[in-house]
Amino acid sequence: MSVPNVEDLLAGEPVHDQVVFETRLRRYWADLLTGLTGAYPDHAVEMAYRLVEIAARNFRERSDDLRLLDLRRHADPQWFQHPQMLGYATYADLFAGNLKGVAEKADYLDELGVNYLHLLPLLKPRPGESDGGYAVMDYRAVREDLGTIGDLRDLATVLRSRGISLTLDLVLNHVAAEHDWARSARAGDSFYRDYFHLFPDRQLPDAYEKTLPQVFPDFAPGNFTYDEESHSWVWTTFNRWQWDLNWHNPDVFYEFADLILWLANLGVECLRLDAIAFIYKRMGTNCQNQPEVHAITQALRTVARIGAPALIFKAEAIVGPSDLAPYLGVGKHAGKVSDLAYQNSLMVQIWSTLAAKDTRLFCAAMNRFPAKPPTTVWGTYLRCHDDIGWAIDDDDAASVGLNGYEHRRFLGDYYAGLYPMSDARGLIFQENLATGDRRISGTAASLLGIEAALDNSDEVHLDLAARRYVLAHQIMLGFGGLPLIYMGDELALTNDYLYIDDSDHADDNRWVHRPRMPWDKADRRHTEGTLEHHIWHALRHAVTVRAALPSLDASVETEIFDPVNPAVLIFLRRHQSQTMVGVYNVTAEAQILPRWVIPLGNWAWDALTEETPLTDGDLQLDTYQARWFVQQA
Ligand code: GLC
Repeated sequence: MSVPNVEDLLAGEPVHDQVVFETRLRRYWADLLTGLTGAYPDHAVEMAYRLVEIAARNFRERSDDLRLLDLRRHADPQWFQHPQMLGYATYADLFAGNLKGVAEKADYLDELGVNYLHLLPLLKPRPGESDGGYAVMDYRAVREDLGTIGDLRDLATVLRSRGISLTLDLVLNHVAAEHDWARSARAGDSFYRDYFHLFPDRQLPDAYEKTLPQVFPDFAPGNFTYDEESHSWVWTTFNRWQWDLNWHNPDVFYEFADLILWLANLGVECLRLDAIAFIYKRMGTNCQNQPEVHAITQALRTVARIGAPALIFKAEAIVGPSDLAPYLGVGKHAGKVSDLAYQNSLMVQIWSTLAAKDTRLFCAAMNRFPAKPPTTVWGTYLRCHDDIGWAIDDDDAASVGLNGYEHRRFLGDYYAGLYPMSDARGLIFQENLATGDRRISGTAASLLGIEAALDNSDEVHLDLAARRYVLAHQIMLGFGGLPLIYMGDELALTNDYLYIDDSDHADDNRWVHRPRMPWDKADRRHTEGTLEHHIWHALRHAVTVRAALPSLDASVETEIFDPVNPAVLIFLRRHQSQTMVGVYNVTAEAQILPRWVIPLGNWAWDALTEETPLTDGDLQLDTYQARWFVQQA
């Protein structure tokens, strides 16, 4: 079947741009068809033609500046893998008031080394409770107090000129019940009713519920909500006012394809595919991670590659290890799905290891990951705006002699500060009495003992907690991937208990770790002797060292040594031009390692401390110390 005729689609556009578009179309046409066939076998060809039209229409609107960015990305398609990459995630209002304010803070981001900025939801949400903006009422408007679409375009332009790529959320599993599509559906418009999963009675919902988990068992039990106006049960995985979209319907796909290109034309360079695991439903399953999810992502990405190839996708799939790999593509989708995916298992294992002071489960779990496609990247992180769910696999736990259930209970207790001697100050989020699940909210600093040490004015404790805190970040920075710093963690901000005073937030304790940026504290990063100065410089140092190490290019796979000393993590990263061995003491006690674990010959030196070459004899590790050994040039 022939590719659509570009001369017609782009008549009037400069000839060289038509050629460029057609080259991309020919490159991606087969991938588009395969993706569509995987999810819409009966409509794939007709959809492909219509999608290329959508891509061409949006390409016409793409500015010269962004067409140039497309070209730059073609010249360096793996730009997001470089060890210089550093991400930062924040809310525009909490960080800087509004979008204009964020632009004014570009220097701050620059000073930290940030070149990838994820602004949490900022498109127009429903009024009142909105799940932190994840209940979008209008995808083509900005939340009023943050600014306008023009401001968003200006911000993206400023950031781009500073070498900072803007990431926004694309909430594609659900819309707010107040979105026009949902309003029309409620009013009985059959076209829009098909955008959602509506049921006349409980028969099918009850059948689905048999195998569906609960995301927010506390404040939003069940997965369906009765809507009086349309007399139907609506699929609402998250909150009752977040209506799940029906991705079985090609019209929903068209809407999002067009929206994606429109956002890319504003200058958005990465889309975080929110709750992507949930978009495709299948009776008898947990309705997550269905194969169609990956086919749909491939098809969406292909449309973007044709119309706005500078755009990349990041999958937000907070799922178990065996389900996670397909988000970067396995089998026929390898390297064709999302470019980035959150490394949720790594995040959980870092917390688990620090609580247990033992690395064995970390090694067992992380060693089970299949290699990812070399063109793709893990988004590595320690904290984000969400709670931490204890995604510990029972088999992984059993393989090191632990009981998965007990270990998850332990982690919940430990980080809620309920375990003897724990100095963590987390809050339990969404305790599920049926499964024993207890997720945790809290900032990294509060979870790692900094809040408790500050409260007790205990200098010795603070020193220990700060070391543990820096170590946790070094593990994340040294794992390989695109590290994502969560707002305020560069200053060790502690929990903000005032969230309780806001009636839109009081029920959802994730707001405890979503503080407003205290700029007076941020200023203290320049004052020696302050905690902020210490943490900022320690992280900044690791970021700078990292940027110069080719072995930390994200294309390199991390090899995890089986524990030689269970108190120490050992990562090996072999790049053609450099091998790196990262060692991390996860305990408060000094540790030793035999010299042979650093297979780098006599000239290995520690890039973090710039210490002189290693000689024979055991390797000493101080309290919570990390060392990044590379071969000295
Ligand atoms: C994602 C977001 C989370 C939100 C959910 C529903 O998991 O990170 O904050 O509650 O999606 O949109």
